[in-house]
Amino acid sequence: MSTSDPKLEAAIAAAAHWPTLSAPVSSARMPHHIAIIMDGNGRWATQQGMIRINGHQAGVNAVRAVTRYCGQVHVEALTLFAFSTENWKRPKAEIKFLFRLLKRYLVDERPELIANNVRLTSIGNVAALPEDVCRELHRTEELTRKNSGLNLCLALNYGAHDEILDVAKKLAGRVARGELKPADIDENMFESTLFTAGMPPLDLLIRTAGERRLSNFLLWQACRAEFYVTPVCWPEFKDADLEKAIIDFSKRDSSKRTS
Ligand code: FPP
Repeated sequence: MSTSDPKLEAAIAAAAHWPTLSAPVSSARMPHHIAIIMDGNGRWATQQGMIRINGHQAGVNAVRAVTRYCGQVHVEALTLFAFSTENWKRPKAEIKFLFRLLKRYLVDERPELIANNVRLTSIGNVAALPEDVCRELHRTEELTRKNSGLNLCLALNYGAHDEILDVAKKLAGRVARGELKPADIDENMFESTLFTAGMPPLDLLIRTAGERRLSNFLLWQACRAEFYVTPVCWPEFKDADLEKAIIDFSKRDSSKRTS
């Protein structure tokens, strides 16, 4: 693709091209959409005798590793919980650091994402993020918009309650304007009004660092997904751990998903 930016063009040409990997399970048993609650950055850093923000920094390497792996085994969509609506309650310095990391990630990873046909998208109220982060997010989204490989979706200032309320308001607006009757609202319409509209249904939801909470993440979408919890903290989560989660997923009996 032409980006009208010679420096970026050179970086794309120099970026690593991911070789295809054979998937760990048969394609019929592969999850199409994986989402991850990336937890345990702080705990990992404390265990290493470091400060919490070093855990977030190390977490970027895990983001890179799972993105590459999903691209290589042809997972369709990977949604990462990068900043929740609850995360605003954290100390200001930590929030500032998280946004700095995110901005750097969006700039530094851009060539490799483009070179490997990844489409970066986001869910959440991103307009409330710092302006410079928003700018780099939109630039990466725009530059990768036409890519047909992995959809890497970053959940940013995302909360499932906010998302569901947003749907309710949009549909109520359509009812008020006379475009819709309340009785017309069904599951499909609701789903196609969510932030994740157009993405494949969520198959596998992973949480690192051992907690068993959904933490206001993809509540509607997780309805029929399989939940996988690993004790591994996010900075240590590697492609081998993701492979383990996929193998575990493949062994679950999907015919039992009637409730
Ligand atoms: C949870 O760990 C993690 C987060 C709140 C942020 C996730 C951010 C990253 C992985 C780095 C940047 C992301 C991208 C996409 C570039 P925690 O701090 O709650 O850990 P703890 O529970 O051990 O304290």
